[in-house]
Amino acid sequence: MMDVRTLVVNHSPKSIWAEAFRAFRTKILHSKKDSIVKSILFTSASAGEGKSVTVANTAVVLAQTGKKVIILDCDLRKPVQHEIFKKRKTNRGLTNFLNGECSISDIVQDTGIPNLRLITSGPILFNPSELLDSDKVEEAIFSLKSQADYIIVDSPPVLPVTDACILGSKVDGIILVVGVGKVQPEMALRAKEHLETVNGNILGVIINRSDTFVEQSAYYHYCENVEKAAN
Ligand SMILES: Nc1ncnc2c1ncn2[C@@H]1O[C@H](COP(=O)(O)OP(=O)(O)OP(=O)(O)O)[C@@H](O)[C@H]1O
Ligand SMILES: [Mg+2]
Repeated sequence: MMDVRTLVVNHSPKSIWAEAFRAFRTKILHSKKDSIVKSILFTSASAGEGKSVTVANTAVVLAQTGKKVIILDCDLRKPVQHEIFKKRKTNRGLTNFLNGECSISDIVQDTGIPNLRLITSGPILFNPSELLDSDKVEEAIFSLKSQADYIIVDSPPVLPVTDACILGSKVDGIILVVGVGKVQPEMALRAKEHLETVNGNILGVIINRSDTFVEQSAYYHYCENVEKAAN
């Protein structure tokens, strides 16, 4: 399907993939969780499982319902949201805010898509974990929550680096993206355990790239039970 990172929900809105994202959107919009979930972190056990593509497409379909959405690119190691939304890499982004160089309003960019705004990573610095483990991140999320219905957060994978766990403790909910054929089920479960040790609220799992071993009608699955998804 997507050999490059694409907004499939925009250029192929009638495809099964776009439909899968809309089905996922329904789960988010009508979640039966007790607490209000406005900030959602997307992460995965290992690299390349489809976090960033899932973040971008989920944010677009949510915005299409009229909800105000802001993507926050917290992958300060391999950020790609600026590429997906065709923004200049040199634009000011999250790291500029975290370094105290500017305010939140200076880094929120329009995407050209109604209701959807974007905060890019900003310049890559040598200490991403330390930058993320600061009150400034909470300040950013708190401030953005007053400006939007949903904050959709992209992040690095859980097992190689600690960034996603740090972020997981600061958001309302977490979606674990599991790339079929990309990750062993045990690793996905280990990632879940890591997130739980920081009291991360795991909302569910997206099974991505399931085309590698089942029929193509199942590109994206959403499941609320991590153990079930891993088996
Ligand atoms: N369902 C899918 N079908 C085909 N290709 C996909 C699918 N999902 C993602 N990809 C492709 O896999 C690659 C990695 O996707 P993506 O960048 O979203 O992963 P990631 O988990 O964010 O990676 P990283 O850990 O490097 O941040 C991209 O080229 C993307 O287009
Ligand atoms: Mg990514």
